[in-house]
Amino acid sequence: MNDLAPAIHTENLTRRFGDLTAVDRLNLIVPRGVIFGFLGPNGAGKSTTINMLTSLLPPTAGTAKVGGFDILKEPMEVKRCIGVVPEGLSLYERLTASEQIELVGRLHGLSYAEISQRIPSLLELLELEDSADKMILDYSHGMRKKTALACALIHAPEILFLDEPFEGIDPISTRAIKELLRDMVDRRGTTVFFSTHVMELAERFCDQVGIINKGQLVGVGSIPELRQRAGLPDDAPLEDVFIHTVGAEMEDETLLGWLTEK
Ligand SMILES: Nc1ncnc2c1ncn2[C@@H]1O[C@H](COP(=O)(O)OP(=O)(O)O)[C@@H](O)[C@H]1O
Ligand SMILES: [Mg+2]
Repeated sequence: MNDLAPAIHTENLTRRFGDLTAVDRLNLIVPRGVIFGFLGPNGAGKSTTINMLTSLLPPTAGTAKVGGFDILKEPMEVKRCIGVVPEGLSLYERLTASEQIELVGRLHGLSYAEISQRIPSLLELLELEDSADKMILDYSHGMRKKTALACALIHAPEILFLDEPFEGIDPISTRAIKELLRDMVDRRGTTVFFSTHVMELAERFCDQVGIINKGQLVGVGSIPELRQRAGLPDDAPLEDVFIHTVGAEMEDETLLGWLTEK
């Protein structure tokens, strides 16, 4: 890990799928030790960006450094310093949660002693103890997501990538996960990069946010900075900042008259 480099540094990072440019020349620097919220409407390019930064998907142009390592030239070094909860979760259906977490710990080279000390604390935090010996096949969406998070945390990574981490998670676990992530950032200097389209989640949780729309980065900074740039008052909710920054236009109401009028 190169301690002087920012956690994430992208240079014209681009991904095309045929004619569609899902991520368009993204230039972004995320410093270490922050919770960074990557916000954007559905289809904006959030997952595609995370997949490229975590070496799950090659860019079609541009590049990026994660933890000071080049995602194209040093993918193994990148993988060693990150934890990921990708959109697709990619769990082994026929393992139990404990086995799945142990497997990931082993792949990261942790000793059996370390793994057996860490697993119970993760299961307790995520309220998975009672189901830990059931196969993932029988898990709900939220339980799968929590298992994937436990796998991403087992090796205490320097940088965490979480794609829509709280989607499908109950409020009690959401609170516990948020508190843990905040502690990791404040006490250990971990960097958390997470995507969401839910503004309420980002509002009080993020130190910095980036807003992506149609593959392009349209705003980066702290929420007060973005609010000021959008010319909105100090108490304007993030939702207003988001809609203003993205430049969303409201649907023509007459088009939906058949649904809204008696
Ligand atoms: N494997 C793929 N093949 C073709 N198009 C894709 C693929 N993955 C994503 N896309 C398209 O790229 C755009 C961005 O998708 P995505 O990054 O998943 O958005 P988000 O995560 O912000 O909702 C969307 O238009 C999506 O349909
Ligand atoms: Mg997505």
